[in-house]
Amino acid sequence: MASFKIGYFVGSLATGSINRTLSKALIKLAPEDLEFTEIPIRDLPLYSYDYDADFPPEGRALKEAVEGSDGILFVSPEYNRSIPGALKNAIDWGSRPWGSNSFARKPTGIIGASVGSIGTAVMQSSFRSVLSFLDAPQLNAPEAYIHYNASVFGEDGEVKDEGTAKFLRHYMDEYGAFVARVLAANAPGHIGDLEPDAEKLSR
Ligand SMILES: Cc1cc2nc3c(=O)[nH]c(=O)nc-3n(C[C@H](O)[C@H](O)[C@H](O)COP(=O)(O)O)c2cc1C
Repeated sequence: MASFKIGYFVGSLATGSINRTLSKALIKLAPEDLEFTEIPIRDLPLYSYDYDADFPPEGRALKEAVEGSDGILFVSPEYNRSIPGALKNAIDWGSRPWGSNSFARKPTGIIGASVGSIGTAVMQSSFRSVLSFLDAPQLNAPEAYIHYNASVFGEDGEVKDEGTAKFLRHYMDEYGAFVARVLAANAPGHIGDLEPDAEKLSR
């Protein structure tokens, strides 16, 4: 069975992050052919194009991690109805220097947990615009807006409610199938196989 390398981002820097707990649950419930490695965002400086001539090690490591992944999964909270600053900063690093957008053609998934009933839906909506601009294909369905309940999620990623576990397992099955489809479509020689459009980021 082919196995796929999945780089995942946790969009929270908080020690008690519920999204980090959700990421552990997702990894436990994912199909066995997905191998997960976290792409850290904590130590990235705030991006400026002044760095473009000579990226710092943290920026280079992020780009290498994204480019070395078959697929990317974002597990993120919603802050003030949008993408947390630390995560948006990481995306900006990965998108530059101009003409070397590391996210181009990478299959992506977005999922998030919130203490509110809206379950990160507004953040995910803005995130989808960002990923579209970066030419990153996204899993469109199922959508996953998680209203976090501490009695359902164990610290180690155990999911204590079978309905929730079933939904998250289904999400990860669909995500894995989506990664496989996009990689097949991206494969050299496949009809429509073209270089990613670097010019796109000039706008
Ligand atoms: C700065 C800030 C802004 C927030 N804004 C929202 C919001 O827009 N929508 C929401 O559902 N929850 C919001 N929350 C509450 C988060 O859902 C909650 O803090 C959650 O634990 C964040 O996920 P994390 O623990 O993984 O960081 C906000 C929290 C913070 C700290």
